[in-house]
Amino acid sequence: MASEKLFSRERQTNIFLGSLRGKNRTIPVSFDKLREAAKKKMSKETYAYIAGSAGREVTKKSNRTDFNQWKITPRMLNDVSECNTEVSLFGQRYPVPFLLAPIGVLDMAHPDADLAVAKASAEENVPFVFSSQASVDMEACSSVMGDSPRWFQLYWSTSNDLVESFVRRAELCGCEAIVLTLDTTMLGWRPSDLDLDYLPFLRGRGIAQYTSDPVFRELMNTSLGDADEPPKLTWNSIKALIKMAKNYPGGFWSNLVSEDPRRAVKTFIECYSRPSLTWDDLSFLRSLTDLPILLKGILNTNDARKAIERNMDGIIVSNHGGRQVDGAVSAIEALSDISKEVNGDIPILMDSGIRSGSDMFKAIALGADAVLLGRPYTYALAIAGKQGVQEVIQNYRADFELTMALSGCRSVDEINVDRLQSV
Ligand code: GLV
Repeated sequence: MASEKLFSRERQTNIFLGSLRGKNRTIPVSFDKLREAAKKKMSKETYAYIAGSAGREVTKKSNRTDFNQWKITPRMLNDVSECNTEVSLFGQRYPVPFLLAPIGVLDMAHPDADLAVAKASAEENVPFVFSSQASVDMEACSSVMGDSPRWFQLYWSTSNDLVESFVRRAELCGCEAIVLTLDTTMLGWRPSDLDLDYLPFLRGRGIAQYTSDPVFRELMNTSLGDADEPPKLTWNSIKALIKMAKNYPGGFWSNLVSEDPRRAVKTFIECYSRPSLTWDDLSFLRSLTDLPILLKGILNTNDARKAIERNMDGIIVSNHGGRQVDGAVSAIEALSDISKEVNGDIPILMDSGIRSGSDMFKAIALGADAVLLGRPYTYALAIAGKQGVQEVIQNYRADFELTMALSGCRSVDEINVDRLQSV
């Protein structure tokens, strides 16, 4: 039967017949149920950090609602018994037009954290973008991924030596691209975290790429890393010190009496990102590596043009899931003009608000070569670890393939703006 060639049919069958065969799935399929199930598993601090966004979360909402400005116009009778969801990016072929976005502090969602995501992405052959703010260092993650694809997301530190060290390590780990995030030279104003007085980095969480780095360890021992006066002992400061000792490499008891965990947090705060960064700095990064470099956080056509002029290899249209500037333009709204400006000169990726196969289809039709998924896989991780992440990848793959086929497209190349009408 021709339809058996479609991955999506197989996935539907597995889900519908799974329980009869004694194979229960671990995560809800619908995004809203996924988020609700994850929320039940998470502490209030974790949910606030992962689900929360900047300000009154207007941009987070418009990242979703602005997809409604476009409608798909499905076309009929196109023999969609076979569909090819593959895409090529920077000379590599990937099975689906989506990647797993860099998400920090995944150990808040699940103790297996980045390692579970690395294993799931490897099994599904979907690229995982390692975060600068990971809970598990890139060497450990790549060691469980075989030859499957991985990229590295970089925050530009105040120390160029640290930037260079991260890039070298990413190269040695087999990363196929560097994603430089531009929009988070400082953390946005996030009331959900502020109201709980909770920022994971201050507990030594999400700084594994740093504490495993020889340049960072060096920085810890120089003036940058001088530890403050010992903190006043209060219930909260004791809890924080225990967390830091737990999250720092090495033994818990020796960490508890050492200054290093506290020094690491302080050094991290001082060096994690550089607000003074300008377009001129990009030549330094360009000189460091032959890997493709993508600029993440582009929302403006002039900035897209500048990225091309500065020899960048790609851009990611993103507002960081609405976490940085509340009131900023939604990613899907910015995408259309930016893709007209770029006009195929370099690949465009997009994130912020992708919650279904239909969203992926619309983003691709408006000019994205691929998209990134963030919160959906983080929620799946919280519910069911590696298995959850694999299932969510399969669900999005199936949903995208069905949307594409039922709209009359047999390959991703056939998805273009003529498949949409604006409202
Ligand atoms: C960091 O990347 C964050 O969004 O919290």
